[in-house]
Amino acid sequence: VSSILVTGAAGFVGCHLARVLSDNPAHSLTLVDNFTRGRRDEEFASVVGRDNVRLIECDLTDSAAAKRLGRDFDSVYHLAAVIGVKNVLERPWDVIRVNAVATLNIIEWFRDGGGRKLLFASTSEAYAWTARTQQLPVPTPESVPLSLTDLANPRASYAGSKIFGELAVTHGCTGLPFVIVRFHNVYGPRMGMEHVIPELFHRCLAGENPLTVYNPDHRRAFCYVDDAIDAVIACMTTDSVNGETINIGNDAEEIEIGALARRILQTAGINAEISPRHASHDPIIRRCPDISKARRLLGFKPRFDLDAGLTRTLDWYRPSLSRRLALAR
Ligand SMILES: NC(=O)c1ccc[n+]([C@@H]2O[C@H](COP(=O)([O-])OP(=O)(O)OC[C@H]3O[C@@H](n4cnc5c(N)ncnc54)[C@H](O)[C@@H]3O)[C@@H](O)[C@H]2O)c1
Repeated sequence: VSSILVTGAAGFVGCHLARVLSDNPAHSLTLVDNFTRGRRDEEFASVVGRDNVRLIECDLTDSAAAKRLGRDFDSVYHLAAVIGVKNVLERPWDVIRVNAVATLNIIEWFRDGGGRKLLFASTSEAYAWTARTQQLPVPTPESVPLSLTDLANPRASYAGSKIFGELAVTHGCTGLPFVIVRFHNVYGPRMGMEHVIPELFHRCLAGENPLTVYNPDHRRAFCYVDDAIDAVIACMTTDSVNGETINIGNDAEEIEIGALARRILQTAGINAEISPRHASHDPIIRRCPDISKARRLLGFKPRFDLDAGLTRTLDWYRPSLSRRLALAR
C-alpha cells in the first residue's frame, strides 16, 4: 500500500487528484483542507466516503496542525494555497501569509520525516511579471527568469508567494526528492465561477446578448483537468524529474478568447453577438506553455482536445447554472 497526502484536497485540482488516486485500492489517502475555498459538496463527499480515504480538517498555517498530519507518507502533494482574483485583489496579505507560512510548515514537516517525495504546485504566474517587461519565447519554457516588477500591485502577492514557494522548496528540500509543477490554465468541472469558461457560460445561459468578452484578442492554451492530473501523478512517480520544475498545460490548441466565447455559445446552442471590451488588468496577450520537458521526461501527452474538455465542463455546469438562473427569475 502506498500512503499519500494531498493538501488543498477540497479544492479544484485537489479533489480531482484525490478521486483519481483513490480509485486505486492500493493507495491510502489522507486529505487535508481548511475549507476556506474548498467545498464539502457531493463530489468531495463521495471521495471522502471511500474506504481508503480519510480527511483531516486543519489550517496548515498552524505549525501544530501540520505536525498532526502523521509521517512517512510515500507521496505528498502540496496544493493548498489562497488563490483567485477576488482574494488576490482584496486580501493580498492573506495570500502572501497563508501561501508562505503553509508551505514553510509543510517543508519543515516533510524534512522531519513527513514524507518521501514532495510535489509543490506553482503557476505560470511565476513568470507572468517577467513577460510584462521582457520579450519571452512563447511557448514558454521553464527556464525563463522569474520576477516581480510592481510590488504595490496586489496581484504581485500571488506571483510573489509562488516564487517564494518554489525557492523555499528548492532550498528546504535539498537532497530530498521533490518536484515543482507550474500549472497553465487548467479548467474542468468544479472549478468555481471565477474563471473565464464558467463565467462566459453563465452569462450566455442568462441570455446576455451581445455577450461582453474581455480581451477577445488574447490567446491562451487551456488544459483539461484530467490531463493535468495525469501529469501531476507522473511527476510524483517518475524519479528522473526529482529536483526539476515542470510546466503542466496543453500547447496543442492556443485559442483567442473571442473564439473561445464563440465555441461556448455554440456548445450552449445559443445565438448571440460578441461585444469586445478591453481590460487592462491582464496585460499578457499570449500565454502557452512549452511542455517539451514533460513530454521528454514523463512521456506526457494530453488526451483531451478543447472540444472534448469544453463539452465535459459545460455539461457539468449546465444543471447548476440553469437552476441558479431559474431561481433568480
Ligand atoms: N487551477 C489552475 O489552473 C491553477 C493554475 C496555476 C496554479 N495552480 C495551483 O494549484 C493549486 C491548486 O489550485 P486550485 O485551482 O485547486 O485551487 P483551489 O482554491 O480550488 O484549492 C486550494 C485549496 O486549498 C485550501 N486551503 C487554502 N488555505 C489553506 C490552509 N491554510 N490550510 C489548509 N487548506 C487550505 C482551500 O480551502 C482550497 O480547497 C494551488 O496551489 C494553485 O496555486 C492552479
